[in-house]
Amino acid sequence: METLEPIVTKEYRLFDKDSLFYKGDDGRKKLYLETYGCQMNVADSELVASILQGEGFSLTEEFQEADLILLNTCAIRENAEQKVRNRLKQFHGQKRAKPELMVGVLGCMAEHLKEKLVQQEKIVDIVVGPDAYRDLPSLVREAESGQKAINVLLSREETYAEISPVRLASNGVSAFVSITRGCDNMCSFCVVPYTRGRERSRDPESILAEVRDLVERGYREVTLLGQNVDKYKWTAEGKEVLVNFAQLLERVALVSPELRVRFSTSYPQDMTDEVLHTMARHHNICKYIHLPVQAGNNRVLKLMRRGYTREWYLDRIAAIRRIVPDCAISTDIMTGFCSETDVEHLDTLDLMRQVRFDYAYMFKYSERPITYAAKKLADDVPEHEKKRRLKEIIDLQNEHSAQSNREDLGKTFEVLIEGDSKRSSNQLSGRNSQNKMVVFNKVEGLRPGQYVHVKINRCTSATLIGELVP
Ligand code: SAH
Ligand code: F3S
Repeated sequence: METLEPIVTKEYRLFDKDSLFYKGDDGRKKLYLETYGCQMNVADSELVASILQGEGFSLTEEFQEADLILLNTCAIRENAEQKVRNRLKQFHGQKRAKPELMVGVLGCMAEHLKEKLVQQEKIVDIVVGPDAYRDLPSLVREAESGQKAINVLLSREETYAEISPVRLASNGVSAFVSITRGCDNMCSFCVVPYTRGRERSRDPESILAEVRDLVERGYREVTLLGQNVDKYKWTAEGKEVLVNFAQLLERVALVSPELRVRFSTSYPQDMTDEVLHTMARHHNICKYIHLPVQAGNNRVLKLMRRGYTREWYLDRIAAIRRIVPDCAISTDIMTGFCSETDVEHLDTLDLMRQVRFDYAYMFKYSERPITYAAKKLADDVPEHEKKRRLKEIIDLQNEHSAQSNREDLGKTFEVLIEGDSKRSSNQLSGRNSQNKMVVFNKVEGLRPGQYVHVKINRCTSATLIGELVP
């Protein structure tokens, strides 16, 4: 799942007094909510906002005026954790001016840092793990009465199925919809199975109801989220599979031909041809797959406990190219894993050259406590070596991304307008089915949420630039 820069919830689109987004002083308690990490965390923050709205909170984008500050945290890499600690110290400092201020930690760092943050460093009042958000109102009340409030219990059932999220990170056009929570894969480097718990799927009817509601409210794109969407399955009384991921995808696509459907993340071991055929059958299922590979060498993949080989991965890529020929493919790559040699690193570069990913998220391995790798394997690739390998990977990917964009010159794409382009209010931007950002000159009457056709005549490494065609 792609990792994002921290997001402060500051989309103020509705200005009526009852709205969570009301900006003025209306006597309600103010919540400042900051989100780190992956899209799943963004979706979770939307649940949290919804739950606390019911408790009479309105949102603020200035932490200085907040009564409650919540940080939804990420523990995937060490630097993510460091950022959050620094931020928490800063927020704790606010208490000098405002002793009644409450500071809380949500999400993946909760379990792992609860002792430290509450008992030793005493910089937070509330700690809530990803499966305990329903308990937030009572935890906030506990904290208000001066007690430390902690709930980091993980659940085998919780999917927040019927809670209707408040769309915070949204442009009013696209929204995230969670379909599974947790992960059972147990990749040896990864902390997610420990912080987010066991894998569980959400009731398909509640997913479809949420999607229908979004369409009625004018949304035109949903991204179905899970750590491994291919493992989605809905069963009756724990017996046969009634709805698998391909079937769910199809049912979501059939909600409206006007609705684009995306999903993340796919897992190489589990991605079936049935999913690919479903994508090919439906124009509105976007032709884009994020398929993390991590490494190109079989010994390293085995140490990572990824459950597939390089050959298997390349076979899945071949299947995508065969069944969904216009599909864009992105990946995650992690370099410098325990005992990875320079020759094995060359296998990763070689795999990249074979696949030619359109885009990639690239990381240095960082050891996470509790994981199999932390307990059993030595983090023995020197830092300078990790850096050098990462740079080689990034340089190669930049070449491939630029080449992928150049290949789009002269093509015409259907683009879903998301809003003004970042650079200029004379231009609109949106994405094509392949998830590439497309920018074009504004024309009177066009609005976010509309589909247009754009012919590409220029590109940068990150953006396609074109003109409207009828
Ligand atoms: N299920 C998701 C994984 C989420 S973590 C998926 O398969 O995409 C997102 C990415 O972070 C992983 O794919 C991996 O490349 C990276 N990552 C995970 N643990 C890491 C660690 N300990 N050090 C560095 N990068 C890590
Ligand atoms: Fe982590 Fe592997 Fe699951 S990377 S989230 S354990 S698929």
